[in-house]
Amino acid sequence: MSYIIQTKELSKLFKKTAAVDKLNLNVTKGDIYGFIGQNGSGKTTTIRMLLNLIKPSGGTVELFSETVSGGNIYRHLKKIGAIIETPGFYLNLSGEENLDIHRIMMDIPDRSSVDRALKLVGLSDQKGKKTQQYSLGMKQRLGIARALLHDPELLILDEPTNGLDPQGIVEIRDMLVNISKQGKTILISSHILSEIEKMVSRIGILHNGKLLEESSREDFRKKCGQSIQYRVSEPDKAAELIKKLVNGADISVNEDLVTLRITESDNNGKIIKLLVENDIEVKESKVIQASLEDYFIKLTGGSGHV
Ligand SMILES: Nc1ncnc2c1ncn2[C@@H]1O[C@H](COP(=O)(O)OP(=O)(O)OP(=O)(O)O)[C@@H](O)[C@H]1O
Ligand SMILES: [Mg+2]
Repeated sequence: MSYIIQTKELSKLFKKTAAVDKLNLNVTKGDIYGFIGQNGSGKTTTIRMLLNLIKPSGGTVELFSETVSGGNIYRHLKKIGAIIETPGFYLNLSGEENLDIHRIMMDIPDRSSVDRALKLVGLSDQKGKKTQQYSLGMKQRLGIARALLHDPELLILDEPTNGLDPQGIVEIRDMLVNISKQGKTILISSHILSEIEKMVSRIGILHNGKLLEESSREDFRKKCGQSIQYRVSEPDKAAELIKKLVNGADISVNEDLVTLRITESDNNGKIIKLLVENDIEVKESKVIQASLEDYFIKLTGGSGHV
């Protein structure tokens, strides 16, 4: 497995408080890694350490499978594009001019990189407009364009969906999925899981500086759990029958709804047949996927929206 980012016991203390506490992050090539945590959980501090903007108090950062040290950090940084918190621009200049200044500062000889990046984020039509006239979503996109200018292998985006309306979030999401398809690895932080859940392949949940969980989105979904709900004519009788059929079934009854938490051994077909054979009318049966947001809230013991 090829790791693009790995941290080992990465920590940052401010005074005596650990903002980041022994973090072991694993981001593999091609991941869109959702780095989720409430306000103050340590996302930006971690990202600053990844980018060598602040020094860790302990632990190590590995980028592109090499431990980062003073000697190789600039070689690594050349392969990374990043936005931390809100990107700043020269407001009296156009989007295109802002990118061109960045291009010159970054020593990128290829002038067409500006147009390419603007196209990638869907800003070609507005490239001549002064950035003070840009909407928040346009500024976020311009920030991503700037991060992409030198065609990095890894994109690190700190809360790029912050403050955007639902449409803006969908646009950023589609754009990042496209960028990922070009073979880039993306680490994206957010304090709202549902905003980025749809696009990520892997999720790391940070809480009070600690990584509570890290797994593929699919594994997360499984852990969150699925239930199956039957709307039936005789719910109590149905629950009894299901209990007899499914060993150790986790069942709850609410009015005419019988809810069964799904385990490996469940068999929906058999259950429906059993109910019908016992003269119970099954009006509806549907699988309910617990939301990742609920799971996140349960894990972190609080609201995902702070
Ligand atoms: N320079 C600093 N000096 C002292 N404490 C700091 C400093 N930077 C961050 N902290 C503290 O570290 C903790 C983590 O902050 P951080 O900015 O990393 O959180 P975050 O997850 O990015 O939050 P948000 O979602 O609000 O951006 C907070 O308690 C914060 O107050
Ligand atoms: Mg932050």
